[in-house]
Amino acid sequence: MSSDSSRRIQVPEELKEVLLQFSIAYLVEQPPDVIDYAADYFNKLQANRPAPANQDQSQDDQQSINSQDGEEPPVMQNSRRKSVFAEAYDPEADDDDEGATAIFPKTDEQRSRLVESVKNVLLFRSLEKEQMNQVLDAMFERKVQPGDYIIRQGDDGDNFYVIESGIYKVYINDKHINTYNHTGLFGELALLYNMPRAATVQAETNGLLWAMDRQTFRRILLKSAFKKRKMYEELLNNVPMLKALQNYERMNLADALITKSFEGGERIIKQGDAADGMYFIEEGTVSVRMDQDDAEVEISQLGKGQYFGELALVTHRPRAASVYATGGHVRLAFLDTEAFERIMGFLTDVLKRNIVIYEQMFTEMARRNTNL
Ligand code: CMP
Repeated sequence: MSSDSSRRIQVPEELKEVLLQFSIAYLVEQPPDVIDYAADYFNKLQANRPAPANQDQSQDDQQSINSQDGEEPPVMQNSRRKSVFAEAYDPEADDDDEGATAIFPKTDEQRSRLVESVKNVLLFRSLEKEQMNQVLDAMFERKVQPGDYIIRQGDDGDNFYVIESGIYKVYINDKHINTYNHTGLFGELALLYNMPRAATVQAETNGLLWAMDRQTFRRILLKSAFKKRKMYEELLNNVPMLKALQNYERMNLADALITKSFEGGERIIKQGDAADGMYFIEEGTVSVRMDQDDAEVEISQLGKGQYFGELALVTHRPRAASVYATGGHVRLAFLDTEAFERIMGFLTDVLKRNIVIYEQMFTEMARRNTNL
């Protein structure tokens, strides 16, 4: 090795990952003092290092979805944590979903507004046509005014709401934690998990909501939505880039996942293609290959629980490698960029800028190191 190259500083992958996660957490939290935040963040990160696989998880299992209302960096929601919901409740053992589905007649104008409002509701994604019609029949309109409380934390859950228009603020223990801006849904948690309302939702402006009663929600949506969120919770918890999200946001991402299947030898993504989303491996293995001098060279193999294509969510860069299904059948969960952006809104712009800055920084470092 020449003396030049021996003095080059390598930027380890782990350092890049830790700094990237820290930056995301910082941008999400927007704390007043970066140094205080960093000290606290890294202390907690150290204290929460993953324990050996068989360690007792009971403490973590007490963690609630609402525990992250600002006291600790969101990244501390480490992958071993499960939401209490997944543990506490079994929809199969619940017969609250019996009975007839309500029908609210609508004018053509109302129905087309409703269809428009539910178009992007991820929770409805896996419904069949017949179920979707039942959903549309069962929804009823509710007008709200500034200051109206739609939901109060701690109450029993009555309805689930899809937003047609209006701005709504969400509070947990009187702390503002979320705002809906003319789109989205709320009130599903109490109905999905049979528990009191997790938050208060108050209208900021005049608005229009489409509501569905508890019984209908549970009859049509409960089992599919519950299963999907539970099945994908762990997958999503294990993606470093998503650790900065609130548990609640990750759950919404689970609704957006679409199952895709491939047979051995089939290409899943092609190097150079536009990137439209990321994949989680539910079953089987894949081979990641890069073009090199007219041939493809395998750079890694990935299996169940692993993921690929995640940078597509924030950078929209062309695919850096091709990925093929290997062996037999491969089942993947696909998260498309558009759904991700709908849920994350402005955040993706912040992340994109951040990643570009990071890349420039690392490139600059590498350039300087080669010139040492
Ligand atoms: P639910 O608990 O039924 O009623 C309050 C609703 O607020 C809740 O369902 C969610 O739909 C919504 N909500 C929005 N953001 C959050 C959050 N961070 N944690 C919990 N609930 C949230």
